[in-house]
Amino acid sequence: MNAGLIGGGKFVPPHILTNEDLEKRMDTSDEWIRTMTGIEERHIADDDMDTSHMAYQAAVNAIEDAGITAEEIDLILVATVTPDRPFPSVATMLQEQLGAKNAAAMDLSAACAGFMYGLVTAKQFIETNTYQNVLVVGVEKLSKITDWEDRNTAVLFGDGAGAAIVGAVSEGRGILSFELGADGSGGKHLYQDDKLVMNGREVFKFAVRQMGESAVNVIEKAGLSKEDVDYLIPHQANIRIMEASRERLELPIEKMSKTIQKYGNTSAASIPISLVDDLAEGKIKDDDVLVFVGFGGGLTWGAVCMRWGK
Ligand code: ACO
Repeated sequence: MNAGLIGGGKFVPPHILTNEDLEKRMDTSDEWIRTMTGIEERHIADDDMDTSHMAYQAAVNAIEDAGITAEEIDLILVATVTPDRPFPSVATMLQEQLGAKNAAAMDLSAACAGFMYGLVTAKQFIETNTYQNVLVVGVEKLSKITDWEDRNTAVLFGDGAGAAIVGAVSEGRGILSFELGADGSGGKHLYQDDKLVMNGREVFKFAVRQMGESAVNVIEKAGLSKEDVDYLIPHQANIRIMEASRERLELPIEKMSKTIQKYGNTSAASIPISLVDDLAEGKIKDDDVLVFVGFGGGLTWGAVCMRWGK
């Protein structure tokens, strides 16, 4: 039994905050943000739109895309570091809103690597034939923990949600290999203390090293080589970090997902949002070998190698 993605959906709030808007609010420039991060604009949720609202919209789209009903979901996993409140979890709120009355539900906290952790957890339940459909959501409302007085971090983040239904796929398809990891000693470089606090340089160094290494590791674990990879979806944190992982895999530029310019860093949501956009734009084809790789606060990381298709 192989676990793969049988449906996907995303949601971003309608309000767009451009680099020019930020220029008016703080001592920064469109040029600095574009050059240093690749970001041009990000979507920001209004006060009355919380994390669960975005998660719900993305989940509805994923359920529809998978062609299943909410009652057929066995487990809901929501990866987020910005839940509406510590409890009840966003996952249980979703369970109620979706009418997924047969689903167990929990949130998981692995920051920007959260969707990878969710995907790998879902895979275990599918491949042991315990569950048939697991809803995995990566969602953040980072704007509510962003320190809008700190130009070092305020320009980086955006809000949004991405969701996937993980279920059984045919032999040879789906998740071929994965790697999850953590280094708690790096927790001091990226954490929430009322607002988000980050040592950008340290996180940058870690991310460049870890993204490349994990991507290579999952390719090897799948028994493949770099030449077999058709498409890379890195966590959209910073174009320079993403480029480093692309170069490590020796992939041409068109084989790497790039949505950071539109959404900024949406943490746990960035990989599934990118996947949904890339599929809509026809950048991913049946049988393609995909590599997803993410890193985040904790510090955490996760990568998955997957053969696309049901
Ligand atoms: N506008 C203009 N100038 C700025 C801005 C800004 N928004 N922010 C910083 N600067 C200035 C700094 O003050 C500094 O000026 P100085 O040289 O006069 O002191 C200069 O730009 C360089 O700053 P650095 O922080 O040294 O630049 P760096 O090359 O490290 O780039 C960046 C900063 C883009 C934040 C980078 O470190 C980075 O991307 N780090 C990783 C961030 C990341 O991926 N975080 C993941 C968090 S996700 C999660 O888990 C929630």
